[in-house]
Amino acid sequence: MTSSTYQIAVIPGDGTGPEVTEEGVKVLKAVAAKCDFELTFTIYDLGGENYLSTGETLPDTVLEPIAQADAIYLGAIGHPDVKPGILEKGILLNLRFHFDQYINFRPIKLYEGVYTPLKDKGPEDIDFVVVRENTEGLYAGAGGFLKRGTPDEIAVQESINTRKGVERCIRYAFEYCKKRNKAKKLTLCGKTNVLTYGFDLWERTFNEVAKEYSDIETDYAHVDAICMWMVKNPEWFDVIVTDNMFGDIITDLAAMIQGGMGIAAGGNINPEGISMFEPIGGSAPKYTGKQIINPIAAISAGQIMLETIGEEKGAQLIEEGVIKVLRDDIKDVAAGKMGYTTSEVGDLVVAHINAQTI
Ligand code: IPM
Ligand code: MN
Repeated sequence: MTSSTYQIAVIPGDGTGPEVTEEGVKVLKAVAAKCDFELTFTIYDLGGENYLSTGETLPDTVLEPIAQADAIYLGAIGHPDVKPGILEKGILLNLRFHFDQYINFRPIKLYEGVYTPLKDKGPEDIDFVVVRENTEGLYAGAGGFLKRGTPDEIAVQESINTRKGVERCIRYAFEYCKKRNKAKKLTLCGKTNVLTYGFDLWERTFNEVAKEYSDIETDYAHVDAICMWMVKNPEWFDVIVTDNMFGDIITDLAAMIQGGMGIAAGGNINPEGISMFEPIGGSAPKYTGKQIINPIAAISAGQIMLETIGEEKGAQLIEEGVIKVLRDDIKDVAAGKMGYTTSEVGDLVVAHINAQTI
C-alpha cells in the first residue's frame, strides 16, 4: 500500500498563534512518521502584522496556493492595533465562506484531570459535539442601514437560511451522529417559538431528514433552554445541530465546561472541499512569545484535521497523547499554570506518541 501525502496550509496568525501552531505541527509530524503518511507544511503569513504592513487581509496571491492544499491549519487571528472586525471578517470568515466550509464542528469533551466549573460533573457527563452551520444565518452579512447616523436611522441585520444550506448541515449532523455511534441522539437547537420563519425551515427540514435515520433519536430544545441544560445536565447531549449564531454562542459556553480555551478545538469543514482547523481561543497578545499558553487546543485541532482527512489512526494517537498529558503531566490547563512551557507540552505529547507501538 502506498502512503498518502497531504499538503497542509499553515496560517499561524497573530499573538500566540505561531507558538501553538508550532507545537501542533511538531505533533502532526511525529504522528505522520509513526503512521506512515506524509504531511507537507506551507506557512502563510496572514494576520494583523501582515495587514498593518500591506493593508491586505487575504489577497488572491495567497488564496490561490491555499486552494491547492488538502487542509488549512490555523493558529489565531486578532491584533490589538487592528480595529475589531477587520481581521475576523477579512481572514477567518472570508476563508470559511470562500472554501464553503459549511460545518463548524466542535467536540466538547471533558478529559480526565481537567477542571470543569460544573459541580458534580465529570468526564462521563461531558462528551458531546456541536454541529454549527457555518456559512449562513446572521453571518451571511445581509442587511444594511437607512439614514445612518441620523435620528431616523434604521439598521437591519437579516438571518439567511436556505433550504440547501440548512439541509446539508442537518444531513451532516445525522451522518456524524451515526458514525459517532454513542447515544445516537441528535438535538436540534433553535428558537421556534419566536423565530418563526428561519427555524420553521430548520424544524421542517430536520423532521424530514430524520425519517431517513430511524436508528437516531431526535430531540428539540430552544437555544435558551440548551444553555440551561448544558450547565445542569450536560450528559443529556450527544450531538447538537444549530444555526451559525446560536452555534457561536453555545460553543463558548460549552468550551468553558470542557475546561476552557486552552482545550477547545474545532474544524471548519467542507466535506467535499478544503477544511480548516483551529484552536478556539484567541491570539492572547499579552502572552505572545512567553511560552506560557497551552498548545493542547491547537494539538487537538490537528487531531480533528487527521480525522477529517481520513487518517483515523493518527488522530487516535494524538488523542491518546493529549489524554495522557492532561491526566498525568500538566497541573492546570490555564496559561502560565501548566508547570511546563508551551513547547514542553508539545514535547510531552510527542514523547507519548513515540512510545506507542502500532
Ligand atoms: C468563532 C469566533 C468567530 C465567529 C469570530 C472570531 C468571527 O468567535 O469561531 O466562534 O463568530 O464565528
Ligand atoms: Mn465564537
